[in-house]
Amino acid sequence: MGFFRLMFQEHRKTKIMLFVLLFFMSLTGFYRLNQSRLTELEDLLENVIQSFIVSTADGISVGYFQWDDMYDSIIETDDSFLDHYKHDLLSTFSIVEEIDLIEMPFDGSDLYTVYAENQELHLYFGIFDSNVEQFIDDKMVRMKFNHETILDQAHISGEVNFDIIIKDGDSIDSVHITSKDNILGFYHFLSALMIGLLGIFFLYTFNKYSISSHYEIEGLANIVMLLSKKDAYTAEHSADVAKYAKAIATSFGMTRKQQKTLEKAGFLHDIGKIGISETILNKTGKLEKEEFEEVKKHSIIGYEIVSQFPNLNEVAIIVKHHHELMNGSGYPDGLKGDEIPFSSQVLAVADVYSAMTTDRPYRKGYSGKAAFEIMENMSLNQELVALLKENVIH
Ligand SMILES: [Fe+2]
Repeated sequence: MGFFRLMFQEHRKTKIMLFVLLFFMSLTGFYRLNQSRLTELEDLLENVIQSFIVSTADGISVGYFQWDDMYDSIIETDDSFLDHYKHDLLSTFSIVEEIDLIEMPFDGSDLYTVYAENQELHLYFGIFDSNVEQFIDDKMVRMKFNHETILDQAHISGEVNFDIIIKDGDSIDSVHITSKDNILGFYHFLSALMIGLLGIFFLYTFNKYSISSHYEIEGLANIVMLLSKKDAYTAEHSADVAKYAKAIATSFGMTRKQQKTLEKAGFLHDIGKIGISETILNKTGKLEKEEFEEVKKHSIIGYEIVSQFPNLNEVAIIVKHHHELMNGSGYPDGLKGDEIPFSSQVLAVADVYSAMTTDRPYRKGYSGKAAFEIMENMSLNQELVALLKENVIH
């Protein structure tokens, strides 16, 4: 519950509005989806059931009431003949519930007539001779169809339950199908609830992320600015390294996210120099052994600074290893070949190239071509050196 409270803590009104909106939108969506699906099913089932009733009635008419023997027995008022076949009909057609011989209720000479009243479905059968040339004009056989057993008889079963509704009328269109099930189940409410909560969760995460990355970028920009006051070369050089690292990453086919991470690592790779004495950093002559040991600390210090920012953990690792060399002679951990994070290998190539081609107070920068000649004999990932060369030498 603590988490939910946290989620609603800021921008409470916006979040509640978003929740209500998402909840009702998804509920309406479920409703419309179900409704159109059910309407289709109802129409389909209605056709099946109506055809089933009509074909049953056709069968009964042909089998029993277009028949000389039945015609003659009714003319001769021989009840025993019809009684015998009543049993036959009731046992053969379980949807037939009652059978009566009645006085002609309406004029006409149809084989049968559908008649629905008070939610009961009746079929009136005319009695014909075998050639359907003569019919009895004062008597008919009335059958009551039990519509509740029709669904079972027609072998309709499925995930949704249906009802047959009989509306008054004198055609098969009186038979209607409607769904018994509630169109929105508990499951739909639960899903809509989850969608609403998910919306708030995304908004919460988005806010959290954008706020923290805002502080991060601002914080890092301040550090880089401080560094540039102390060591102008490093600040400029970092922008170049970021550019070269991104170019290599793009040529190599690294993902956009990896490219972005590398670009950030490029800007920040020497940030640890903030912890190194200005005298050593700006020294123009050759560094003493102890001085060089001091400078080497910048990759660890950089790692410690950058890893303070939770979203920059990957960047911190790349920064830590940007001075490792493929043969294991680099620092801080002396990693070899594949042990060195791939992005650090990219950064190393970009770093060396930028350093060699930049003018320093104590030497002029190498040309691109000369720089690559030297780099091709250095313990760098040569595949990446070749990629950078393709990018910068035309
Ligand atoms: Fe460095």
